[in-house]
Amino acid sequence: MSKKGITYEKGQWLFSMDRLRLQPDHVQSRVRLLQGSATDLVTALRPDTDLPFDNVLCLDAAYHFNTRALFFRQVTHVLKPGGCLGMYDLILSPSFSTRRSLPWKWRVLAKALDIPLVNWMNQQQYEAQLTQAGFDDVDIELLDPAVVFGGLSAHCFKQLSLVNHWHLGHWTHAAYLRVSGYLFGYLATAECWMPAIITARRPLSAGQSAHADKK
Ligand SMILES: C[S@@+](CC[C@H](N)C(=O)[O-])C[C@H]1O[C@@H](n2cnc3c(N)ncnc32)[C@H](O)[C@@H]1O
Repeated sequence: MSKKGITYEKGQWLFSMDRLRLQPDHVQSRVRLLQGSATDLVTALRPDTDLPFDNVLCLDAAYHFNTRALFFRQVTHVLKPGGCLGMYDLILSPSFSTRRSLPWKWRVLAKALDIPLVNWMNQQQYEAQLTQAGFDDVDIELLDPAVVFGGLSAHCFKQLSLVNHWHLGHWTHAAYLRVSGYLFGYLATAECWMPAIITARRPLSAGQSAHADKK
């Protein structure tokens, strides 16, 4: 089975190509890495003989897309009927009914982290957006922010202590790890963003859901 990966940033794309070159030939021959936007998948993937895909995975990125709704619609053009979209994403905590109820400090943080406000939605709104884009069998599992963000925070501080101990890298790397460690530590208890695993299926055909077909 072949795989294609897309990222927006040239630096990350080049870095991932370097890592792929370290893999054995049989892995390299099955993976293609592209630079392009997830909100314009149809252009980024064309010409592509592998279209449509069996499954699409989007990990830790969709909250940045401008907009996430546009990405969902694009996925329906590149996913096989019956194919699955799987995501790790951030969802607004149930304590916020709408993004309009967000305190100003969260709006500032979203701006600083390049997260469009329109992407801030709670579980119900998120599910509705997937359904509207044409998906069914939507499943959203909220994860414990203390475990996910707390774990990321601990990892950043552990890396920081190694960087300091071995005098590695530039001072900006240490600063980045320190700021990230504090930020994830804050997110672990702030009860605003909930990390979540989401799956949704493209119906086998119009008016016939994959769920119904399995019965
Ligand atoms: C928070 S980072 C996640 C990084 C990833 N978890 C990792 O460990 O490398 C968000 C990622 O979303 C990507 N991204 C943001 N907007 C994008 C877009 N429109 N299309 C494709 N990728 C995008 C960025 O390039 C970045 O790699």
